[in-house]
Amino acid sequence: MPDKISFLFLGDVIGRPGRKALKKYLRSFVEKYSPSLVIANGENAAGGIGITEEIGRELLNHVDVLTSGNHIWDKREAESYLDREPRLIRPANYPPKNPGNGTYIFESEEGKKVGVLNLQGRVFMDPIDCPFRVADEEIKRLKEATSVVIVDFHAEATSEKQAMGWYLDGKVSAVVGTHTHVTTADERILPQGTAFITDVGMVGGFDSVIGIRSELAIKRFLTGRPQRLEPAKAGLLFSALFVEVDEESGRALSIKREIIKEEESG
Ligand SMILES: [Fe+2]
Ligand SMILES: [Fe+2]
Repeated sequence: MPDKISFLFLGDVIGRPGRKALKKYLRSFVEKYSPSLVIANGENAAGGIGITEEIGRELLNHVDVLTSGNHIWDKREAESYLDREPRLIRPANYPPKNPGNGTYIFESEEGKKVGVLNLQGRVFMDPIDCPFRVADEEIKRLKEATSVVIVDFHAEATSEKQAMGWYLDGKVSAVVGTHTHVTTADERILPQGTAFITDVGMVGGFDSVIGIRSELAIKRFLTGRPQRLEPAKAGLLFSALFVEVDEESGRALSIKREIIKEEESG
């Protein structure tokens, strides 16, 4: 039996309902799988946009690493929090000299190391630096510390996300897509041993438009005007991915998608 490292990856946590769903359901999956580490995307954890230090601390009581994405900059205090909290990372391909880091090396109590890299896509998103080229540089650096590297690719377009999966096949242990808040059913282990899913989904209000109150989202489309968007409170959705990795080679051994849908009356 090879030595394994395993992780649970939670999709974007949306506001208070997301934090509630995380606290309600994470424990049962930790008991089921005993993962070496838990990662969650925290870019929407504060009121649906951004993250604050208070909420980051709250989440880091339950998870080991927080990744993020385009919404990381929505709460101004996140800029200084990013510089103080290495376990909170932001996409590595923002131009140089931005606050925070795009990578974190997790170390378990037994001394096992796992590199986590956050990247962001450029299709239908802000045109930041090339995520593919930045991936090459950052992975080379992380691999000096460990053979197990997990990538959160925060992107809109399924094509860009699948291309990243294939581009990094055999170079990292997993490429996990985030940002759309909708789980895709394409999880697999690519031929060279990289676990991949286009989007892991979200942790938030179930009766919603990607975690936001549906009436507000509809109003935005009907009027064409920006609307104040609030996290949906009705029902809970908990979406996660569990992956096992061979510690020595860094190849993925298994991938399993987990979803709990709790309707309001449930
Ligand atoms: Fe998000
Ligand atoms: Fe996003």
